[in-house]
Amino acid sequence: MTRTSAIGVEAAVATVDGNRIKEFIDLMASITEAGPGVTRLAYTALERQAHEVFQARMRELGLAVTVDAAGNSIAELAGTSECSAAVGTGSHLDSVPAGGRFDGIAGVAAAVEVARAVVDSGMPHQRPWRFVAFAAEEGARFGQACNGSRAASGASTLSGVAGLRDSAGITMADAMAAVGLRPDAIDTAAWDPNEWHGFIELHVEQGNVLEVTGTPIGIVDVISGSSRVMVELSGTASHSGATPMHLRRDALVAAAECVLVCDQIAQNSQHRGTRVTVGKLEVEPSSITTIPGRVVFSVDVRDVDGDRQRATARDLLSRFHAIAKNRDVDIDIKTIGDTSPVTLPARLVDLVAAEAAAHGAPYRIMPSGASHDTQQISKVTSAGMIFVPSRGGLSHVPEEWTAYEELVLGTQVLLRAIYALDQA
Ligand code: GLV
Ligand code: MN
Ligand code: MN
Repeated sequence: MTRTSAIGVEAAVATVDGNRIKEFIDLMASITEAGPGVTRLAYTALERQAHEVFQARMRELGLAVTVDAAGNSIAELAGTSECSAAVGTGSHLDSVPAGGRFDGIAGVAAAVEVARAVVDSGMPHQRPWRFVAFAAEEGARFGQACNGSRAASGASTLSGVAGLRDSAGITMADAMAAVGLRPDAIDTAAWDPNEWHGFIELHVEQGNVLEVTGTPIGIVDVISGSSRVMVELSGTASHSGATPMHLRRDALVAAAECVLVCDQIAQNSQHRGTRVTVGKLEVEPSSITTIPGRVVFSVDVRDVDGDRQRATARDLLSRFHAIAKNRDVDIDIKTIGDTSPVTLPARLVDLVAAEAAAHGAPYRIMPSGASHDTQQISKVTSAGMIFVPSRGGLSHVPEEWTAYEELVLGTQVLLRAIYALDQA
């Protein structure tokens, strides 16, 4: 393997352009369901439309594009030496309901801009460079997050995707097939580790550590895991006036106790560092004058410590059972997602830190509270992550925002880091 000159990368880095990044992000934000913010859920026609835009951009640059059975779009720029193991970057194009325009998209926009900078500048590099838009990263629709990258890591199976359902009862497998993907061939989406040398994802932080500390670049060392369940409480729906308090089986009162227990457990010293969220709660029949007979709610437990994550989830479930018994309501709990935290390799953290320093960009090494495709990809190849600041720390809401000059800086560090990986 021969080393190429570092002068090429400096020239390419200098062409990274915020207007182009903004144009891509604005275009993607226009591919949405009606309503506040961006709604482009996993395995919908809108998500596929966003992937087609990405694919077209990559083809315009002369890259070869493939779409795998799980819906991941992968564009490849050929290498110039005998090194066949690729370097890569990318993120996801789906969103949560009423989400923002940067979560995932920022990393795909950065990937597109890196590809453009490398192609236009003719920057010499050795390895194949792959640019990836992952499918179905958000767990908001089906519970389990990162399904595209899980398929790339070989972790997704037909029975797995056939067992996940959205709130309308549609299985992930059916949703995939409905948009022309091939759940029955999901195993073919697995990446061969021998074809990979490393992967670096740029993403918005989705918290406020970078903003509060005035640091433009975050380098992720650990990505939190998550345990997710849906809890169904069934009591007796009946007249709100005619039923005495002591004769009720009110599913919502039991659910309210469960929600408070989630907060209490996450706040106590034994579980400090864990985040527990009840983000979805449905009440039936949802009438002012009827005692709630059925409540279904989600619980999302996140932690950088996998043992504490699972211990917290177990504690919660036993407390829910005790509450249900005490309130004389029936309880049914289904696991809808379980992902371990991942420690990213120090080699990649050091490599990105060295490139940020060489670029004159202040950085801090930090954990990620959110899930990311890199979590799955790190099972296939050495993987790293670059964070850029999120205004007000807000994410998964329409107000999500990152300044374009911060995205330019992040993309420049990303390009340098991918090049350093190319040469390593
Ligand atoms: C992905 O955005 C997550 O929910 O962590
Ligand atoms: Mn997200
Ligand atoms: Mn994301």
